Amino acid sequence: MKKSSSTISTAILSSLLFFLALPSLYLAARAEPCNAEDQKTLLEIKAALNNPDELASWNPNTDCCRWHALACDQNTGRIIALGIFHGNISGHIPPAVGSLSSLQVLVLRKIPDLRGEIPSTISKLNNLSFLRISYTNLSGPVPSFLSQLKNLGVLDLSHNNLKGSIPPSLSQLPRLFSLHLEYNKLTGSIPDSFGRFAGTFTDLFLSHNLLTGPVPKSFGNLEFRFRIDLSRNMLEGDASFLFGKDKSIMSLDLSRNLFAFNLSKIEFPDSLVNLDLSHNNIFGRLPEGLAELNLGGLNVSYNSLCGQIPRGGKLQSFGYLTYFNNRCLCGAPLPACN
Ligand SMILES: *[C@@H]1O[C@H](CO)[C@@H](O)[C@H](O)[C@H]1NC(C)=O
Ligand SMILES: *[C@@H]1O[C@H](CO)[C@@H](O)[C@H](O)[C@H]1NC(C)=O
Ligand SMILES: *[C@@H]1O[C@H](CO)[C@@H](O)[C@H](O)[C@H]1NC(C)=O
Ligand SMILES: *[C@@H]1O[C@H](CO)[C@@H](O)[C@H](O)[C@H]1NC(C)=O
Ligand SMILES: *[C@@H]1O[C@H](CO)[C@@H](O)[C@H](O)[C@H]1NC(C)=O
Repeated sequence: MKKSSSTISTAILSSLLFFLALPSLYLAARAEPCNAEDQKTLLEIKAALNNPDELASWNPNTDCCRWHALACDQNTGRIIALGIFHGNISGHIPPAVGSLSSLQVLVLRKIPDLRGEIPSTISKLNNLSFLRISYTNLSGPVPSFLSQLKNLGVLDLSHNNLKGSIPPSLSQLPRLFSLHLEYNKLTGSIPDSFGRFAGTFTDLFLSHNLLTGPVPKSFGNLEFRFRIDLSRNMLEGDASFLFGKDKSIMSLDLSRNLFAFNLSKIEFPDSLVNLDLSHNNIFGRLPEGLAELNLGGLNVSYNSLCGQIPRGGKLQSFGYLTYFNNRCLCGAPLPACN
């Protein structure tokens, strides 16, 4: 189940970037040449990163629309995408990035020696719709100035070294539909505002952090077909209000937290496909309604559940590892009840 957490929507946008990057290569002859200001900025960026091998093609004697890792708007010659997908680049994100004012896509990924904080100049990139800085050694906070990027649809700052609390203002981003902050060292609680995203919010991934406190009650009002991964934090309390026949949750991972609530009376929405509640203190029985769902993945292991596993649906097709280490769950695929 855990492995399914890469998102369809970000995959689409990633491939979009890939195609975006290609046309500039062979259409550049007929298209507008690279904007001179952007070219100057790119050379500043290259110098600030100590002229890494990855940017060897950034040669001032050639049109910057032909340079590696970039895409230009063919009508204006402005840089609209900058994507480095892996690199042996050491240093900070150059503040000059904020001068590439037509940028729509910015990806800095798998650059282990990229350090320092996210520069505030990024808040000037009004047209940015896709921002991914992940698998780097970036530190400092998730900056609240990111909530100024009103066109942002995807914000992925996962797999870094970010600390501090999550800025509540991110929920005000009107177009944001996918937020990935997993695998950092974030502390504090999940902002209450995250139950009221301004956009049609679908993906919230906050796993592998140090988050504490309960899931905000506002999450009970989420209306979209959403996927939430809050696993491997120190969250606590009752999360049963996330469920209900009228909800539209597709995938929920609450595993490896300190949640404690009675599962017996919970009604699951028909939309639910993946549910991981493992490694918590959840008690009561497995509700009969679980057998009516078309589940692709289920894990309730390592809790304090009791009673007979309901028969039917997909429930007996999962192996015993879905159910083991509970207080007194019994029946197939576990040993029969006494
Ligand atoms: C990374 O770059 C540094 C400095 O240019 C170089 O010394 C080192 O060998 C490179 N490492 C790899 C794995 O290419
Ligand atoms: C931002 O996008 C809008 C709409 O596509 C466009 O009109 C505007 O020129 C862009 N701004 C910059 C600085 O490229
Ligand atoms: C990441 O940066 C921190 C300082 O912020 C440093 O202590 C640590 O060694 C770095 N990790 C890697 C893998 O480079
Ligand atoms: C859980 O809820 C059920 C139904 O409301 C109730 O019968 C049961 O006693 C509860 N279990 C615990 C451990 O509180
Ligand atoms: C459920 O979680 C447990 C504990 O993390 C793990 O051992 C088991 O393989 C998982 N089962 C499934 C079906 O994913």
